[in-house]
Amino acid sequence: MKNEMQEDILRVLFTQEEIQNRVNALGAQISGVYQGRTPLFLGVLKGCFVFMADLMRAVSIQCNMDFMAVSSYGNGTSSTGAVRITKDLSRDIEGQDIIIVEDILDSGITLNYLRGYLSTRLPSSIRIVTLLDKPDRRRADIHPDYFGFTVPDEFVVGYGLDYAERYRNLPYIGILKPEVYSS
Ligand code: IMP
Ligand code: MG
Repeated sequence: MKNEMQEDILRVLFTQEEIQNRVNALGAQISGVYQGRTPLFLGVLKGCFVFMADLMRAVSIQCNMDFMAVSSYGNGTSSTGAVRITKDLSRDIEGQDIIIVEDILDSGITLNYLRGYLSTRLPSSIRIVTLLDKPDRRRADIHPDYFGFTVPDEFVVGYGLDYAERYRNLPYIGILKPEVYSS
């Protein structure tokens, strides 16, 4: 059966296979850096869920996982600047090595806020892994410690990333046709 989301995609940026290879390499890299420690991978819902599921299986060290949910977007395609925590941590993180897992680092406003919030809970370290980095749009002073791919200033969907809650289940990452969100 034809994938009915496909006609809304302008161009495929990263295929399923390219993503898988890159995520496996990231998992190996992080496993090397954190060898002998037990970091807490903290996924930022909902966009992280596909990436995190694959990344965790590419990590070969002991680790914990938790999730938070924040919202700053509504149904638009750029940040409103206001960040709200809609699901908080389920446990204390004092003294732990935190690795925040994001789908995309865009303006950086969400992660900058989250990092500030988490640091008040006294973890021993906080690092950031994001599948995609869109540096052209950065408004906050924040950089990923590990990232999968750099993307141009275009709205992308798939592999967990949504537009108005759709396209998260697309197995690759593509640029959404502008007429889909401007109509
Ligand atoms: P930031 O606060 O602007 O860095 O926004 C980060 C969040 O915005 C991400 O976790 C995504 O949910 C969303 N976002 C930013 N750019 C895109 C995009 O191109 N496609 C889909 N979601 C995006
Ligand atoms: Mg989103």
